[in-house]
This record gives sequence, structure tokens and C-alpha cells, in this order.
Amino acid sequence: MKTKTLSLMLFAGTALGALPAQAAGDLNLICSADVVICEQMKGDFEKAHSDIKVNMVRLSSGETYAKVRAEARNPKTDIWWAGTGDPHLQAASENLTLEYKSPKLDELNDWAKKQAESSGYKTVGVYAGALGWGYNTEIFKTKGYKEPVCWADLLAPELKGEIQIANPNSSGTAYTALASLVQIMGEDQAFDYLKKLNGNISQYTKSGSAPVKAAARGETALGIVFVHDAVAQTAEGFPVKSITPCEGTGYEIGSMSIIKGARNLENAKVWYDWALTADVQSRMKDAKSFQLPSNKSAVIPKEAPRFEDIKLIDYDFKSYGDPAKRKALLERWDREIGAAAN
Ligand code: F6P
Repeated sequence: MKTKTLSLMLFAGTALGALPAQAAGDLNLICSADVVICEQMKGDFEKAHSDIKVNMVRLSSGETYAKVRAEARNPKTDIWWAGTGDPHLQAASENLTLEYKSPKLDELNDWAKKQAESSGYKTVGVYAGALGWGYNTEIFKTKGYKEPVCWADLLAPELKGEIQIANPNSSGTAYTALASLVQIMGEDQAFDYLKKLNGNISQYTKSGSAPVKAAARGETALGIVFVHDAVAQTAEGFPVKSITPCEGTGYEIGSMSIIKGARNLENAKVWYDWALTADVQSRMKDAKSFQLPSNKSAVIPKEAPRFEDIKLIDYDFKSYGDPAKRKALLERWDREIGAAAN
């Protein structure tokens, strides 16, 4: 028995001795973008900083916000990278995230710096992208559907059961859609529209990009998503066409925040500065992440939908990034749309 214990200890000693330099520690990261870019970011960071081990979880934006709130007294996360800006702003105004002025701030586009300034530097923009939809051109052709180019067209009776969108409680994409429609139409009219649209929705998914992935695979005809997620499916070779609506549309400023009480604060700052660099953001396209990068010197992917080609609304991030506004809109959505969908 003693010999066995001794040989186990010797084995462990050898195995430890064979390890590369002792890690400077961990970094607990929640990633709220697509899992492919999340894995790429983790891998690239660990290559650049081999002394830091990243423990990464992928969660949608609304899910992350809920987790960060729930863990406020005992945070398990150090940094939250990506996901729509609204819940990052909501977390900032609830003091769940930490003020940090990165030395990289001056390298960023104004919209990304503005996101930082307006939150008291508790979050920062990492990319931007506009809302729209992607539809399966083969399904539309076979079934003889008319191409929907406006929000109003999505109410066509022929599209009954043919559309998917995420649930705005879990998904930042769907919250952006809800907030955009309210800004375009007014709140009561937007809820009337969503009630009618509900007749055409087959499923409210958890993650924001799932609807267009389903459209790409022919499981649904159309997914309401950020258009960069539709373009990603086209780039994968699927028969998906992207549309941005004629009445105008909202957009996201994908953001990043350090969690207040982060156990690995120094490592979180290392990630934060690294993720704002032009080199890191220029590589996002390799994971078919076609958002507009926040660093002014980052390469804009040729596939990225350009804001100058899209009818954008003047999205009110201050109002719709407010926790009380979020709560009220989501409660109304649960009552009037979610309940009817179940
Ligand atoms: O798939 C990428 C992406 O659309 C990001 O641009 C965005 O911030 C995020 O997903 C939103 O995901 P969700 O709607 O699941 O919160």
C-alpha cells in the first residue's frame, strides 16, 4: 500500500514537472457571441498569454445578465465578453460591473468610446451590427413566397409558422428587436405588431442566431437575427439571403465588461486590453464573425453589412439600456406574447 502511494506521488511529481511554466492563474469568462468565435478567442488568448487559463462558458446576453445579477454577492465570473450592449449597460447601472479605462480606448471608434463614457467606463464597445433577417431562398422559391423587405411583410398570412426569432428574456438579439420595434412604431403599436407576428412564429429560441441557423438548414423559412449572423450562414454555403427592413432597423453595440468583485481582476484587465486590439478584432472574420470591429485599425471584413447601406434608427441606448425599461418591456412581452405562444 505504502509503495503504491509513493509511486503515485512520484508519478504526480513527474507529471507536474512536465507541465509548462506554472499558470499565473485563471480567467473565468462568459462569452455571449457565437460559440465558434468564443472558442477562437479563448484559444488565441491562451496562446498569447500561456500563463493564464481561460474557463469559458457561452451564454446568451440576457442569460448572462441574469447570472451576473444572481451572483452579485459572490461573483463566479471575471469578465463578460460580447453580447448586445443593452444588458451590459443595465449591469453597469446596477453597479454589477467595474469601472476600467483601458489604455486601448483611444484606438476605438466613437460609438465604442461613447458606450464606455455613457456607462461611467463600466463597459465598452467591441463590435457593432444591425438587425434584420435571413431567409432560405430555396424554401421561398419552392413555396412561391414573396420576398419580405419590410417589417410589415413578415405579417403575410402565407408565412404562418415559417418564422423564428429568439425570446427577448434570454437573447440580446430579440431584446434589440423588441426595443427597435417600440422605437419605430411606438410601444402599443409594436405590441400589436408582435401579437400579429406571433401567428407566424413557429418557435422562440434561446439564442439570438439560432433562427437563421435553422433557416439555413431548411428547418424554418426565415429567422429574425442580426444580419451579420445571416451573412455568416451564406458564407457557410447555405442558401440564405439577408434583408434589412425598409422601415428602418435597430442595431447593437456588442460590449465587454469586467464583473465587480472579479477574483482574477488583473487577468480580466489583460483580456480586456487584448480584446480591444486591432489584431484580435481583425481575426474575428476567421470564425465567420462579421460584425463591425470597434478598433479603428481593425480590418472590416468584406462580408460585414455596412451601416451606410442600412436604414438605421437612432437607437436610444440610454433608455433601452435602463434596467427599469428592460423589466417593463419584458414583463409586457411575457404577458402579451410569451403567454400566448405557450
Ligand atoms: O452571433 C453573434 C451575435 O449576434 C452577436 O453579434 C451578439 O452580440 C450576440 O450574438 C447576441 O446573442 P444573443 O441574442 O443570443 O444574446
